[in-house]
Amino acid sequence: MKVLHVGAEIFPLIKTGGLADVMGALPQALLARDAQVRLLLPGMPAIMQGVVRQRLVCEIGPAFGAARVRLQLGEVQGSGVPAYVIDAPYLYRRDGNPYLDADGAEWGDNQQRFALLGWVAAHLAGGEIDTDWAPDLVHAHDWHAAMCCAYLAAHPGPSVASVFTVHNLAYQGLFDANDYHLLGLPARFMAHHALEFHGQLSFMKAGLAYAQRVTTVSPTYAREMATEAFGFGLDGLIRARGTDVSGILNGVDGTVWDPQTDPRIGANYSSRTLRGKADCKARLQGQMGLAADPDAPLLAIVSRLTEQKGLDLLLEALPALVGQGAQIAVLGTGDADLEAAFVQAAERHPGRVAAHIAYDETSAHRMVAGADMILLPSRFEPCGLTQLYGLRYGTVPVVRRVGGLADTVVDASAAALADDTATGFVFGPATAGALAGAVERAIAVYRRGDVWQAVMRRGMAQDFSWDPAARDYIALYRSILGHGGD
Ligand code: ADP
Ligand code: GLC
Repeated sequence: MKVLHVGAEIFPLIKTGGLADVMGALPQALLARDAQVRLLLPGMPAIMQGVVRQRLVCEIGPAFGAARVRLQLGEVQGSGVPAYVIDAPYLYRRDGNPYLDADGAEWGDNQQRFALLGWVAAHLAGGEIDTDWAPDLVHAHDWHAAMCCAYLAAHPGPSVASVFTVHNLAYQGLFDANDYHLLGLPARFMAHHALEFHGQLSFMKAGLAYAQRVTTVSPTYAREMATEAFGFGLDGLIRARGTDVSGILNGVDGTVWDPQTDPRIGANYSSRTLRGKADCKARLQGQMGLAADPDAPLLAIVSRLTEQKGLDLLLEALPALVGQGAQIAVLGTGDADLEAAFVQAAERHPGRVAAHIAYDETSAHRMVAGADMILLPSRFEPCGLTQLYGLRYGTVPVVRRVGGLADTVVDASAAALADDTATGFVFGPATAGALAGAVERAIAVYRRGDVWQAVMRRGMAQDFSWDPAARDYIALYRSILGHGGD
């Protein structure tokens, strides 16, 4: 079966969050199961450079305001996954964040930039752009790629099926309704049951309304996003899709995240030989300017600093956590007020709290390897990957019971500790008190060395590889295509 995956970022070329990790790893896991996967990516500079051995497939001509659009086919450097790239310098040759300008504002022409991505996907699927290859099914990720589902629906002739995966319902790709004419779609698509959303134009709705199936990245988030509390105004449409909506849990790319082989960390280790982890902790304390104290429970946060991640709760709980003897290390970028608050907290608690305001892959690995616990107090979390990285690295997750966090961490209740199932600490209410309570429980277990090590080792033994997700996606593709798949 031939599947085209469409998305706007991909590790290791361009990344703003977990979407890139998924785009980097899932296609490889599908290829390993003999699906013929190709990627379609917008030609941002890092992608133009990192997709190697490119050859011209089609001179598309002018489109969406760009004088010249060409489609090229190459392969992702390192993984070798075949990837089409859209070379449209006018729209894509911009460094930095794929969605925002240097001042952090959305690019004013994002509607054209991401409409083009969806349009090319649909026409590739229609067989008009590459005469040698066309997918049986298109799999679009997040609002950036969602328009392909509408273009496929509008396309005359036999329609190619699509799957739309929601990685985050909070980012919807909303634009001025007056820009609708730029899309080249029939007027009927700008309706309430289609792309119109409270008087605006919603790219996310193109995926939710027109894809044959909608998935998200954990079973719990699949249920949550159909509720008013988590639906960002789209829960009605999601509920209306009924059983077309499902959740498939993300995995971990073991070639990138493995404490036994990770070249970014100071010392490698495994669940059998944990000594290297103590080295990683000592180095992290040194690098972050924390007191060199092997016995202090060290809590890490590696995160986008946004409302979603619930880090205001951590700020509120921070004096209590420091009072319990914890060290806290934060790596993140995002909202200016959260960045400033963590810098201030570090100044207020020298040697106990440290903030590294940066987006830096190497530091992320060092944090995950060196800390004792990784904290995710998210308000909502479609899947969350850092708790999975924490589990793999023996860095015990302390998380809120939402989305993928609820699906991947087993709370160390007395019963779970007794029957050897606990892998972390889970709390319910989105309050500083509940967060502090969970950290307090974690610190109490941390102080009981061998019980703590058992929790660490159990986490490290969990299998969160990508293969089960690949198997589930292939089963989904087969159910849509209505054949056994080959
Ligand atoms: P989200 O996609 O919502 O940001 P995930 O947990 O799925 O959340 O994925 C976050 C990804 O981004 C992980 O790979 C994590 O290591 C990485 N990450 C987050 N913040 C930083 C940072 N400041 N520096 C480097 N990597 C980061
Ligand atoms: C999103 C979500 C995160 C998820 C990631 C990859 O950015 O916020 O929870 O892990 O996508 O699917």
